[in-house]
Amino acid sequence: MQKNSGFLSTFSSKTNTILESAGAISISLHPQSIPHYCDFQNTGYIVGEAPEQLTAMANSEELDPNFPPGLHLVSAFLAMEPSDSLISIARACGGGIVSENVQRFIWEQCINQAAAIGYAPYVRNFVKKLIFEVESTHGCVLDELYENYGYYMTSLKEDSLGRGKACKHISFLFTDGSLELSNCPKSRKFVVPLNCSLNMLEGDTGCSVWPSSLYLSEFILSFPDRFSNKTCFEVGSGVGLVGICLSHVKASKVVLSDGDLSTFANMKLNLGLNHISTRMDVLEKSDKELNLVKSDIGSNSEVQCIHLSWESAAEAELQEFMPDIVLGADVIYDPACLPHLVRVLATLLKQRQVTTQTRTSNCQEDIVNEGRAEEAENDEQAYVESTKTPVGYIACVIRNIDTFNCFLDLAEHADLTIRDITDTARPLKLLPYMSSYNPSCIRLFTVTSNC
Ligand SMILES: C[S@@+](CC[C@H](N)C(=O)[O-])C[C@H]1O[C@@H](n2cnc3c(N)ncnc32)[C@H](O)[C@@H]1O
Repeated sequence: MQKNSGFLSTFSSKTNTILESAGAISISLHPQSIPHYCDFQNTGYIVGEAPEQLTAMANSEELDPNFPPGLHLVSAFLAMEPSDSLISIARACGGGIVSENVQRFIWEQCINQAAAIGYAPYVRNFVKKLIFEVESTHGCVLDELYENYGYYMTSLKEDSLGRGKACKHISFLFTDGSLELSNCPKSRKFVVPLNCSLNMLEGDTGCSVWPSSLYLSEFILSFPDRFSNKTCFEVGSGVGLVGICLSHVKASKVVLSDGDLSTFANMKLNLGLNHISTRMDVLEKSDKELNLVKSDIGSNSEVQCIHLSWESAAEAELQEFMPDIVLGADVIYDPACLPHLVRVLATLLKQRQVTTQTRTSNCQEDIVNEGRAEEAENDEQAYVESTKTPVGYIACVIRNIDTFNCFLDLAEHADLTIRDITDTARPLKLLPYMSSYNPSCIRLFTVTSNC
């Protein structure tokens, strides 16, 4: 057997040389068993999984894009997860090595769908790492991967990774059980394409997908009855993911707001990407002042996007909305904005009787709470409270305890009650393939008004 000469390490700038080289080494040895079980423990994808299960995956004939682990691999690629995470899942798919079978699957199900992402540097970087992974385990790299990488090497600049915008597809994956029951999402997965910035530190913060909005989205999709037939108002909506999920569970009305103009424009773009046609209506005077755009999602939710800064939001304008539910994800981080944010929350949450439906049975909620009676009781209490008066759901990562305590103080002065429901109302894990998302660092709070 011929030893793999290492395509990436002997890379030449001349494309022809690359492809000849690729052809020469694609007949290299292919060891069947050097399971990198230790590596997996660092990557997090299959921590704790027994080696026998890995072997079972390796022996499986076909990878299916509709079932794990193939489903996780495709979902992670479309969500533009870091290449190392993808490689980790790919290894698991091949029982410890990125076998030819797995490479073929990646080529057909991921790389051939790269146009959906619309961001070539990400694909190039992944293909590069994939080739490196296979070569470094003395595996045989598919010719298609070499050719694809050669193409990217000659057509893209190396430093372009991590800049600009791309279309991430966030796939919320439901278990089989949840499909059987009424009042739950019908499909096995709910895929949300989102145009977003790739670098949180560059450009507008609202154009990135923040972890709290992933958590809040999982919460909405896990407890749909809390939101269906309710009017919902989100502050600092960013890319619009939470609003798209609210619409999916059939909130009767969804108002998305953001104070940043480019974020606002990007949010409207994302509603369009999700087949939510935004249209400028003939607006009433107050609507015009709020730069309001109305849209429809399917035939159920009325969706509005509002350019609204917390500093300049007038009380009278906010009072017009009268939402049943107010939401915010990752909005508690700037001490200077907090007094204005709290004022907006207090105005929107002023007590009144919520007129929407009472609770119906919720299959997913029951699944989540099964065997956890005490937690379910607390959860129920929170739910009952939420049906009586408007309620806010704020998800956040507490990065700076002083800033968070400042929020609590301001909330107390504004007669708002904040309750931490993180441990009593846990959402389903609908993003199991997303290693970049760590829900354990996120807290979920309810906010209610005492006046
Ligand atoms: C950290 S991002 C979170 C975005 C989104 N909720 C998410 O979790 O992905 C904070 C959002 O709040 C918006 N924001 C910040 N300060 C604001 C203010 N004073 N008025 C209105 N929106 C503001 C930003 O434009 C941004 O979209």
